[in-house]
Amino acid sequence: MGTLSYIKNFIKDRQVASITPTSRFTIGRVCEHINFEKDIRIVEFGPADGVFTKVFLKKLSPGSEIIAIETNRNFAEALRDLRDDRLTVVNKSAEQVREIVQSKNWEKADYIISGIPFSFLKKDVKNRILKESADLLTEEGRFLGYQTSSHLKPYLAEYFPSVDTEMEYLNIPPMCIYIAGRQQITK
Ligand SMILES: C[S@@+](CC[C@H](N)C(=O)[O-])C[C@H]1O[C@@H](n2cnc3c(N)ncnc32)[C@H](O)[C@@H]1O
Repeated sequence: MGTLSYIKNFIKDRQVASITPTSRFTIGRVCEHINFEKDIRIVEFGPADGVFTKVFLKKLSPGSEIIAIETNRNFAEALRDLRDDRLTVVNKSAEQVREIVQSKNWEKADYIISGIPFSFLKKDVKNRILKESADLLTEEGRFLGYQTSSHLKPYLAEYFPSVDTEMEYLNIPPMCIYIAGRQQITK
């Protein structure tokens, strides 16, 4: 898995939106905004073959959980091969996040990590996913997105009182990281 798998899947499925996995530098930066010291619940949108997921599983406590929502069937199968009891893989769209979280009997999530290509989505779909995300997060919860452009900020600001961005240049292409929450962002 890795770049070759991204290219193969990108040729057949343009929603994959990238021919190379996110860099370890971007992953490290996103992880700086996650408190791995306690039991947490993460929803991951668009994990592909698990470049972030594998890092999360290494860092997460035994009582933590991840729901990974991935539309591409090949990637979803690769994720299932990770075989970790803390990980639930769902081969559906982030648009269905509410029903997916409810089916796991989670009331709320602590973090939503998103790599889906929001710029490809229609405005109403984008807004629906962001609204559902804001509703599903705990009071201190964080929406952590990474995109190759900074277009998402005004959309996030509709649903999250606090939105911050960081750039990671050690990524091809450079990545904009979004940190959004109900409460003021302090690292
Ligand atoms: C740019 S890739 C990011 C992959 C990986 N997380 C990374 O950081 O390299 C986007 C991923 O989101 C998935 N995807 C696209 N639209 C989606 C949606 N609506 N719901 C869930 N996954 C989606 C694609 O199949 C692809 O795996």
